[in-house]
Amino acid sequence: MISRRKLLLGLGSMAALGVGGTTWRAIDQGVFSTGSGAAYAAWDEWNPPGDDVLHLVRAAVLAASAHNAQPWLFRLGPDRIELTPDLSRNLGAMDPLNREMQISVGCALENLTLAARHRGRTPEIRLRPDGATILLGRSTPETSPLFEAIPHRHTNRAAYDTRPVETQKLAELVDVPEVSLVWHDKAKFSDLTVRATEAIIADADQSRDDFSWYRGDWDDLQAAKDGITIDASGQSQMIRTMGKILPTSHDLNNDTWLESTRDTQLATAAAVGSLLVRDPFDPVQRMQTGRIWQRMHLWATTQGLAMQPINQIEERVDRERSANLKPDFTDAMSALVPAGTHAVFSFRIGYPTTTALASPRRRAEEVSRSSS
Ligand SMILES: Cc1cc2nc3c(=O)[nH]c(=O)nc-3n(C[C@H](O)[C@H](O)[C@H](O)COP(=O)(O)O)c2cc1C
Repeated sequence: MISRRKLLLGLGSMAALGVGGTTWRAIDQGVFSTGSGAAYAAWDEWNPPGDDVLHLVRAAVLAASAHNAQPWLFRLGPDRIELTPDLSRNLGAMDPLNREMQISVGCALENLTLAARHRGRTPEIRLRPDGATILLGRSTPETSPLFEAIPHRHTNRAAYDTRPVETQKLAELVDVPEVSLVWHDKAKFSDLTVRATEAIIADADQSRDDFSWYRGDWDDLQAAKDGITIDASGQSQMIRTMGKILPTSHDLNNDTWLESTRDTQLATAAAVGSLLVRDPFDPVQRMQTGRIWQRMHLWATTQGLAMQPINQIEERVDRERSANLKPDFTDAMSALVPAGTHAVFSFRIGYPTTTALASPRRRAEEVSRSSS
């Protein structure tokens, strides 16, 4: 939601631009091109016919990733794929311990695994601290509704319908002993998340590194094919149009983020939860968490449910550790989870009120190398 004052200010500025100027700016800024162009091509080519190993990567690149940084690299051989994090795409002070990077790699691994099974390339996965090796055997193709959901899964940041959600099935998708799922008292989780959002905004380094992934300019977005876009913000079509036409300042962006987190995303969540691990610094447990998140979100997609990661608390926890700050959020989050576990990823769930839109992606060819 955007405040009435900002809406009126925006409409006033558009009037000042004049009808002709506004139309040209709207065309330049992609108002009439939502979801099209080179930055969205990966969504149309995710499952082509043929036996090329690269086709597995086409499904993998549609996975979720923190700030849509897509921090993954694939080395392809005829019978194996090496998946490693692309350290050059880390989020700076927003992810100082690479937790979100390694979870994101796990998300890509889950899509890759589903695609391999679908194509009869039984994947044998070896997780290591620096990535994963996927050995590709041969057997009967095994498709699943989760595979079919890959191109339909999008992070939904809009209001949800607060109808209760049957959450039992989600816990069944957690398939390793190192990871578990907890549901929170919504009021407590929401208060802490709003406080963490305010703390990120007040932290110059975190706020800068967060904003650097916002792609407000259509040409930048089409060139970079990554980052957070206005179309994926969950705002109404009118606000998205205005957001594209008018230049967005860092302050306005922060205000809108805080408002929508508090008044829309948390306020309308049917439930909020976290994925927990035993060792929050173990890259393997983080990748396992990513696989489980991707699977949960794909399953939710098959059920017509909406989901959104909400990780401001974890981002503050890592910031406190890396910058040697008082463990304010670290202690508050530990009080919300069972002893001996640590939250590495949080989210909300609910029935959607609007369809979420796709985010940009770099194509499989841009993130893959041949290992020969
Ligand atoms: C580790 C991780 C952390 C994330 N944290 C957030 C978050 O705090 N808030 C949010 O709105 N989205 C978050 N996301 C969602 C990503 O921004 C999203 O996956 C990315 O922009 C691509 O969009 P898509 O999921 O619609 O394909 C997170 C995703 C991952 C994998």
